[in-house]
Amino acid sequence: MSEDRIRNPRLRGLVVSAEEAAAHIHPGETVAMSGFTGSGYPKVVPLALAERMDRCHAAGEGFQIRLLTGASTAPELDGALARVDGIALRLPFQADPEARQRINAGTLEYIDTHLSHVAQHTWFGFYGEVDTAVVEVSAIREDGSLVPSTSVGNNKTWLDLARKVIIEVNDWHPLEVDGMHDVYYGTALPPHRKPIPLIHPDDRIGETSLRCDPAKVVAVVRTHAADRNSPFNAADATSEQIAAHLMDFLQHEVKLGRLPKNLLPLQSGVGNIPNAVLLGLARSGFRDLTAFTEVIQDGMLDLLRDGVLRSASCTGFALSPDANEEFKRNIDFYRERIVMRTQEISNHPELVRRLGCLCMNGMIEADLYGNVNSTHVMGSRIQNGIGGSGDFARNGYLSIFLSPSTAKNGSISSLVPMVSHVDHTEHDVAIIVTEQGVADLRGLSPKQRARALIARCAHPDYRDALQDYFDRALRESYGKHTPHLLGEALSWHQRWLDTGSMRA
Ligand code: COA
Repeated sequence: MSEDRIRNPRLRGLVVSAEEAAAHIHPGETVAMSGFTGSGYPKVVPLALAERMDRCHAAGEGFQIRLLTGASTAPELDGALARVDGIALRLPFQADPEARQRINAGTLEYIDTHLSHVAQHTWFGFYGEVDTAVVEVSAIREDGSLVPSTSVGNNKTWLDLARKVIIEVNDWHPLEVDGMHDVYYGTALPPHRKPIPLIHPDDRIGETSLRCDPAKVVAVVRTHAADRNSPFNAADATSEQIAAHLMDFLQHEVKLGRLPKNLLPLQSGVGNIPNAVLLGLARSGFRDLTAFTEVIQDGMLDLLRDGVLRSASCTGFALSPDANEEFKRNIDFYRERIVMRTQEISNHPELVRRLGCLCMNGMIEADLYGNVNSTHVMGSRIQNGIGGSGDFARNGYLSIFLSPSTAKNGSISSLVPMVSHVDHTEHDVAIIVTEQGVADLRGLSPKQRARALIARCAHPDYRDALQDYFDRALRESYGKHTPHLLGEALSWHQRWLDTGSMRA
C-alpha cells in the first residue's frame, strides 16, 4: 500500500481500520455514500457497518440507517447492508437483488428519484440533514482535496453537507485518473442560479478534485479493492435486430438532414441492449461522435478506442472486469478523451437540452399511446428505478426507448393497452424500437401513435389483440381522443398474474 496516496499529513494521521471508521456511524443516521453503477463506491466501511448492525440485531438492538448514494452500487454496499436489514430508507436508485427483494416485500422504504434531482433536493433540505458521508477516492492531495476514483456522482454534495466525513483511499485505481474529473462548484440555490457555462460535451468547467473541510473528516481507511460490475452478455439476435433498426433510423435522419453526419451527443442507458446499440454504431460507419451520458460502459470504451467516438462525458463507469483492465492498460489514451462530472451536471436538464442529446434507454413496457414504464413490473414490483432516464428523455433532442417486444419467454407483451406504471409520459417519448421495428411517434396524435406502434413494434403474437382492443376502444371509449376501455385497460397484466400469460 503506497504511503503517497494520502499526501495531507493531518488526514494521514486519521488512518484507521474499516471497523473503527464504521464505529462513527450511529443508528438512525442519514448516511450519504459515494458510488455510481458499481464504480467508486466505498468497499470496506459498509461491510464493517453491516457486521456491526448484524451484531446489534442479534443482541436485540435496532440499527438501521437512511442510505443515499449516487446511483446503484454493488454487493459490498447495497447487498451487505440490505442483507442485515440495515437500511430503513434508500434513495435514489438501486439494482441490487437483496435490496430489491426487501423493497418489494415492503420492508425497505425506497424513493425512486431522478438522478439530476438528488443533489439539489438534498441542498433544499428535502431529505433532512446528512450525518455522515462515506466517500471513496483515489488519492488525497497535500491541500486535503480529494481526487475522485471511477465515479463522481453526488460526492461534492455529500462532502459539502455532511457533518462527518469518512474517506476510503483505494489504491486499486490508477493514480492517472487524477485529472479526469471536472467538479463544478458554480451551482447555487434558487433564485441565485446562473447559466452553467458548458457549451460542448467535452468542455471543462470545474476543478479536478473535491473540496473537503479537513475538520469534518473523522476517519480515513486504506483499501485495495476492485470496482464490481457484471460482464455484459454477448449480443443476442434480438438486441442485434434492435440495434440494426436503430442504425437504419439514424442513417435515415442524417439523410433527411435532421441529424448531422456525426449525430448529436449520445446518451446511452446501461444494459445489454444499449451495449449492442453501441456496437452497432461502430459497424454503421458513423465517425467523430461525442457522448454526454451518465455512465461509460464497455461498448463506449470500444468506440473510443476505435476512433468512432471522439470524447465522452459521464459521471462514472460501468465496466466489466475485462474492460476495467483495458481502461487501466491504456489509461493515458482514455484520460484525454473522458471527463467525469458530478451527476447534477452529467444529467442536467439545461445541458441535455442545450447539447441536444440523442437519448437511448431501456424500458419495461410502453402503451398504445407511447407512455413508458421503465421501473415497475406489473405496476407494483420495482425492478431498478428511473435513474437518469427521465433527466434525458424529457430534455434530449430525441428520446428513444428500446426493448424486446416480449418478456418472460413470450408470456408478456412489452406493448400493452395501458402501462401499469408511468415513468415517461407520451409527451416525453419520440421513438420506440423493438426487434420488430421502429415506431416514430414524432408529430403524431394519440390514435396515429397507436397505429404506428401496433404496426411497427408489436410482436406478431400480440398484434391482433392490440388491434382488437384499439378498434373496440375507438367505438366504445368515453372520449375518442385517447381511446380506452377502462375496465379492460389493465386486464392484460391481471391475466398474467392470474394465468402466467398475457395471451387471451
Ligand atoms: N414485463 C415484466 N418484466 C419485464 C418486462 C415486462 N414488460 N420487461 C423486462 N422485464 C424484466 C425481465 O424479465 C428481467 O427480469 P429478470 O431479471 O427477472 O430476468 C428484468 O425486467 C430486466 O430486463 P432485461 O430484459 O434484462 O433488460 P435490461 O437489463 O435492459 O433492463 C430495464 C431493462 C428497463 C429494467 C432497465 O433499462 C432499467 O432499469 N431502466 C431504468 C433506468 C434507466 O433507464 N437508466 C439509464 C438512464 S441513464
